[in-house]
Parts: sequence; structure tokens; C-alpha cells
Amino acid sequence: MNRLRFFTIAHRDLSFCCPVSSAKFEQVIEILDLPPQARVLDVGCGKAELLLRVMQRYNATGVGADPNAGFIHDAQTEAARRGHDGRVELHGAKIQDIPVGADSFDVALCIGSTHAFGRFAEALTELARLVKPGGQVLIADGYWKQKPDPDYLAFLGAAETDLPDHAGNESAGLEAGLVPFYSCVSSEDEWDHYEGRYCLAIERFLRDHPEDTDASASAPGAMLIAAGGVTRSASAFISSANRIRSPNEEDQHPHTEG
Ligand SMILES: C[S@@+](CC[C@H](N)C(=O)[O-])C[C@H]1O[C@@H](n2cnc3c(N)ncnc32)[C@H](O)[C@@H]1O
Repeated sequence: MNRLRFFTIAHRDLSFCCPVSSAKFEQVIEILDLPPQARVLDVGCGKAELLLRVMQRYNATGVGADPNAGFIHDAQTEAARRGHDGRVELHGAKIQDIPVGADSFDVALCIGSTHAFGRFAEALTELARLVKPGGQVLIADGYWKQKPDPDYLAFLGAAETDLPDHAGNESAGLEAGLVPFYSCVSSEDEWDHYEGRYCLAIERFLRDHPEDTDASASAPGAMLIAAGGVTRSASAFISSANRIRSPNEEDQHPHTEG
């Protein structure tokens, strides 16, 4: 099955396409400190659930970019339902293909989408460039909770160098000139819920569409992924809000939960 179609079906029952709960995102939204008429950018916005919630909370305007047309369609429907359609631009395109200038946003969100820029460090640098001086970057990416076993890496088709540990993610923020302001991680419950719903959506798609050519071609793969889904993942998300240090923030220290 086409990877994009598989990914879209797997997320059809999830508003957030990542292992972070609604409650955790609400906590993080409260921690953002946005001015009146704030401008919000979401890179790899998926269905734009986070972008719309940030806009709602701060009466902000928003720009979202994601090349997944299905996700952007859902995002536009949801924006209209919430009455935000006049205040948000949702682009079914890569971030590189939309006009966004440096120093333009009060906050840039990038949740599980750092690959849009290449690697994590490049995402940090680019997001920091897009926000105004003193602006905020809310970024989330994976990290190794422990040294990954070679068999686990082989199963994932991954390399140990693909991810740092949690401290490594925060260090990368510092190296990009950002101050780690708040961070939290996905819990095992959040991972279980995310991977459970992901796998269930695929299984139900296969059950409900046996005639779909992709369904017959995908069945063994879906079973394999389901088997992976019930195994505890060795990686988890970091969600950290970083902001550029201003003179009265010299004493801020990163806070880590979980
Ligand atoms: C794991 S999903 C996260 C979606 C969303 N942030 C969320 O948490 O619900 C990663 C998203 O990044 C998008 N993406 C990949 N490359 C991109 C690019 N160059 N520009 C913008 N988005 C991109 C994918 O289409 C996908 O929807």
C-alpha cells in the first residue's frame, strides 16, 4: 500500500497523529505565553488539532502546512466547524513550498514532524529563524529511553544514531540558541493509546474493505505492525517548549517531567 494512504488510514480515528494526549497538549497550551493577535505556525500540522486549539486559546491567527491532502481536508472541515476558517491558512503543501518569512511568528509548532526539515537540529534552527525575537518554539520528537537492542533496531529498520536521548534533544535546543523552557515526555499509556488506535484503524479497514486492492496486498504487513504495537516501544516523545532567552529570563532553568 502507498505509504501516505496507509498513514492516513491508520490515523483516521485520531485527532492528534502522535502519542500525546489531549490533556497533555492542554497543559502545554496553557504554558505558552502568547501576546494579543499572536501568529502561530504549525509545520507538519496533520489535522491541525493543536494549531486550532492554540488559536482558540489565544485568539490567534494561524498558518498550517502539511503535504497530506487528506489531513488538510479534515483540518479545513474542523476549522470551519469551529468558526476559525477566516483566521487560519491551511496549506496542503510542504513547508518549503509556502511563503513564510523569517521573524514572522510568535510561536512555531512542530510535533512529530521534524523530518520536514531533515534532522532535529535543522528543524530547531529553521523554526528559531521563523519566530520573532523572543518567540517560542514547541517541538516534539522521539528519543531513546534506553540503548536500543540490535534486534529492535532491525525490526524498526532504524539505526541507533537516528535518535538521541532526552537530554540530547534538549542539548540540541541549546545549541540552536534556544532556552529549554519546559519539557515533558509521552507516557506508556499515551503510547499504548496511540499505537492501539493506529493498529485498530488498519485492522478495521482490512475487515471492512476486503475488496480493496490495497487491503489484500497489505494484510500481512498490517498484522506485523499490530504485533509491534502491543510491544512496549523503546522510544517516547519529548514535547518541549523552548524560547529565546530575553534579559529577564536569565534564571530560567529547564524543567523535566516524566
Ligand atoms: C507524525 S505526523 C504529525 C502531525 C501533527 N503534527 C500531529 O501531531 O497531529 C507528521 C506530519 O509531517 C508531515 N510532513 C512531512 N514532510 C513535511 C514537510 N516537508 N512539510 C510539512 N509537513 C510535512 C506529514 O505529512 C505528517 O502529516
